[in-house]
Parts: sequence; structure tokens; C-alpha cells
Amino acid sequence: MLKVTWLGHSAVKISGSKTVLVDPFINGNPSAPYGVDKIGHVDFVFVTHYHGDHVGDAFAICKKTGAILVAIHEIAVEAQEKGITAEGMNIGGTVVNGGVKFNMVPALHSAEKGTPAGVVIEIDGRRIYHAGDTGLTYDMKLIGEFFKPDLSFIPIGDRYTMGVESAAKAVEFVQTRRVVPIHYNTFALINSDPLAFKARVGNLAEVLILKPGEEYALPAG
Ligand code: NI
Ligand code: MN
Repeated sequence: MLKVTWLGHSAVKISGSKTVLVDPFINGNPSAPYGVDKIGHVDFVFVTHYHGDHVGDAFAICKKTGAILVAIHEIAVEAQEKGITAEGMNIGGTVVNGGVKFNMVPALHSAEKGTPAGVVIEIDGRRIYHAGDTGLTYDMKLIGEFFKPDLSFIPIGDRYTMGVESAAKAVEFVQTRRVVPIHYNTFALINSDPLAFKARVGNLAEVLILKPGEEYALPAG
């Protein structure tokens, strides 16, 4: 059974045959349900881009748990310099490790180092898209055609990413069956209404509005 947990902001935990953390901004994240000390076993940490609210505690968690960092080349190099085992990659590439496949996809944003990215994670026969921070882009149509995600994490907080209207359009583009809105209500500048997003998405996808710390088990099929 594959389970996902939203840890507030863009932090997501995917638990199946392996445990994957994406953008683990935990300590310092006002919406995180618990601290890094409660994270437990982790196999992989994926970082979408080099901004503090996404790199977050990634290096510390990798050091503590021995998890492998998967990220764009420049972030992976920095991790390796800190003694962390890392799989560097770049947009369009894939990394397969421990039966988990990471497909790095484009994101339209900025970063302090490297290039921003999204990821489609293939684990236990399911495809999970984490958009990272991004504006609406036609590249998402390609993600939809190519991957048809079972579940997607899409930012709706506006200002630094898509807002409600553009995120709803992104849901159409990525042809996802289910979507969890992220990157909102962490700070006042990115306050957004997930119910307005749900209404806008309509019957395009099942909208799962999770509370930070809430777990969702993907139904079979
Ligand atoms: Ni960012
Ligand atoms: Mn961000």
C-alpha cells in the first residue's frame, strides 16, 4: 500500500516499498506537524530546487538517516562535498535506485544554484508528480501525455508559484487522477483557498485537501 503524507508547504513523504521525502522543509516550517527528530526511516530525499523552503532540512536528514539525496547536479555536488551520498541528475533524465525511478521534469521558477525542477516518482507501480515551485507552462501537457500521474502535488499559493486559477489549468494539462494542493498558507504572502481550487478543478481530478501531517493511502488501480 502506497501512502503519501503532506508535511506542510511543499514537504511530502511517500511511503511504500521505500520511503521518499520531497522538499523536507521541516524545522522552520510553521506548518510542519512535527520536527525533523520525528521523521524516522528515509531511503531517498528529493530536492526540487535550491531555495531555503525546499532544501530545508534535506542535508541534515540525509546525514542523520543515511538517505540518498537525489537532486539536480549542482545540489548533488554540494551534498557530496558535505559527505552525503547523492545521485545528481538533470532535467529530462532519470535515476533508478532501489526500485524507485526519479524522472526530473521542468519547472518554471528561479533558484540560487542549479535549475528548478519537478519530479515524477515511479514507485510500487504508481506515478507521483511533485511540481516543485513553478508557473503554469505548456510543458505540463507533455508531463500529462508521457506520465499520466496517479497523484500530483501542485502549488496553489500564488505570488511565487501558480495560484488557484493557473494551478487548476495545470491539473488539466498533467491529466492527473488525483491532486493535493501544496505551497499555500505557510506564510501570509502565500495564503490561498484550497476549496476555491477544488471548485475550479471540478471533475477533472479528485482534489485531496490534506492537513499538514495527514496521510492518504492510494487506492488500488
Ligand atoms: Ni522556490
Ligand atoms: Mn517555494
